[in-house]
Amino acid sequence: MTEPGALSQKDRFMSEKKQKNKKAESAAEDTLKDITALCKRRGFVYPGSEIYGGLSNTFDYGPYGIELLRNLKNEWWKSFVNNRSDVVGLDSSIMLHPAVWTASGHVGSFNDPMVDCKGCRSRFRADHLIEETLKIETNNMDLKDMQKIFSEKSADIACPTCGKKGDYTEIRQFNLMFQTKMGSTSDNDVTVYLRPETAQGIFINFKNITDTCRVKIPFGVAQIGKSFRNEIIARQFIFRTREFEQMEMEFFCEPGSQKEWFDHWVAFCMDWLNSIGINKENVRLRYHDAEELSFYSENTADIEFKFPFGWGELWGIASRTDYDLKKHAEHSKKNLEYNDQENNKKFIPYVVEPALGLNRLMLAVLSDAYFVENEGTKEQRTVLKLHPKLSPVKAGIFPLQKKDGLSEIAMDIYKKLSVHFPVDYDASGSIGKRYYRQDELGTPFCITVDYDTKEDGTVTVRNRDTTEQTRVKIEELDVYLFKNLETL
Ligand code: GAP
Repeated sequence: MTEPGALSQKDRFMSEKKQKNKKAESAAEDTLKDITALCKRRGFVYPGSEIYGGLSNTFDYGPYGIELLRNLKNEWWKSFVNNRSDVVGLDSSIMLHPAVWTASGHVGSFNDPMVDCKGCRSRFRADHLIEETLKIETNNMDLKDMQKIFSEKSADIACPTCGKKGDYTEIRQFNLMFQTKMGSTSDNDVTVYLRPETAQGIFINFKNITDTCRVKIPFGVAQIGKSFRNEIIARQFIFRTREFEQMEMEFFCEPGSQKEWFDHWVAFCMDWLNSIGINKENVRLRYHDAEELSFYSENTADIEFKFPFGWGELWGIASRTDYDLKKHAEHSKKNLEYNDQENNKKFIPYVVEPALGLNRLMLAVLSDAYFVENEGTKEQRTVLKLHPKLSPVKAGIFPLQKKDGLSEIAMDIYKKLSVHFPVDYDASGSIGKRYYRQDELGTPFCITVDYDTKEDGTVTVRNRDTTEQTRVKIEELDVYLFKNLETL
C-alpha cells in the first residue's frame, strides 16, 4: 500500500517520465538557442532591423550565411538543372497578375484558421492550439469541427501568451498572401500579391517555354526565388518565416506516367540530401493520407528532417495532376495543351513538383552539422561538420606570429589560394582561438605558417573533423586541398 501523501509507483513513473520529457524539450530548445547564437556570433544570420529594435521574424544573412545559402543554391541548381538534360531554368516575377492567384485557388483557399485570445489579443493558429494543448489531431478537421472543439473545450485551452483559459474569439479564416498596390496614382492602382510560392510563375510560362525552347515532354522547369506568406505563427528561427526563399521544380509529364515520375523525384530528392552530407538518420519520408492531401494533389510525400525541436517538413513532393495548367487555361482563355507532334496528340500534361525551402534547408544543414565535442572539458569545441562543398570558407590561413616575415608568407598563400576558393586570413589571437573560430564556421582546413616554414617551405594543415595535423609543401597546397576537399 502507498503511504498517505506518498506517490504511487505509477504516479512516480509518470512524474519521472514528465520530467524526462521536459528535460528533452529544454535540451532541444537549448540546441536551437545555441545554433541561433552561433549564427549571430559567426556572421551567418542576424535578427532583422536590429538597430531599430528588430522586426519580428525577419532575418538578415551575414557574410558567411550568404556563402552557405549560395553553395546550397548552386548544388541544387547543378543537380536539378545543369546536370539534367530534361530540366530548364526560369526566373519569374515576384508580382504576377492578380488573376493568377484566383486561378490557382490561393485567393479563395490559401487560408489558416486563426483565433485571438480576448485577454491579451495574441493571435494563434486554432489547429496548432488544439493539437498542442488538447493533443487532438486536426488534419482531417474543417473550420466547423475546430469551432466545435473550441466551444466545448476552450476552458482547457490556456493562452500560450497570458495563460488565460476559455476566452477566445470565433475562429476565422486568414488569407496568407501579402497584398500591395501597384500604380502611380490612387485612381488607377491595382491590388497585387507578393507570390506565396514560385510554382505559379512556372505554370504561367509553360506556353512560353514550349513555344521558344526545344523541350519535349517529359521535362521540368526549375526556379529559385523569394516567396512571402503572412504566417500567423512564424517561429523556430528560420524554420518558418514570412519572407523566405524556395527552390521548386515543376516536372511536366504525360498523364498516366505521373506515378513513375513521382517515385523518381522522391528518390532523387532523398539522394540529393545525402549528397550534400545530411545524415540519413535525420531524414525520413512521410506520405500524406487522403484527408491531408491539398486540393490540387493526388499524392504527396514530405521529406521530414529531425530539427532540434522535432521532426518537421523540409521538402514537399506533390503529384499535382493537370490541376494548375487546366485552371490557368480556363481563366486566361489560352490553350495550354502540349502538342505531341511525334505521336500526333494534344494533352494537358500532369505535373510532379518537388518544393523545397532554402532557409529551412539551411537550418537543417546547420542542425545536422552542429556538434559540441569534449563537453565540460578544457578541450571543449563547437564545430560545424559541414560537407566541404557547403562550407562558406574552405581554408583558414594563419601566421603563427605577425612578425619575422610570417604574415607576409601567410598573405602570399592567401592570395594564391583565394583564386581557387574562398579562404580566410586570420592573424589575431592564439592559434587555438583561431582554430575555434574556423571550427564554428565549418572550415575544413586550417593552414599555419610557422618558423619551420621559413626553413623548409612547409606549413601545418589541420583537419577540422579529426583535428589531426600534417606538414604540406606550400607549392603543393592547392593540389592537397582540392584532393582532400573532395574526400573529407
Ligand atoms: N508550391 C508548393 C509549395 O509551396 P509548400 O509545402 O507550401 O509547397 C514548400 O512549401 C516548401 O517551402 C516547404 O516544404 C518548406 O521547406 C518551405 N516553406 C513553406 N513555407 C515556409 C515558411 N513560412 N518559411 C520557410 N520555409 C517555408
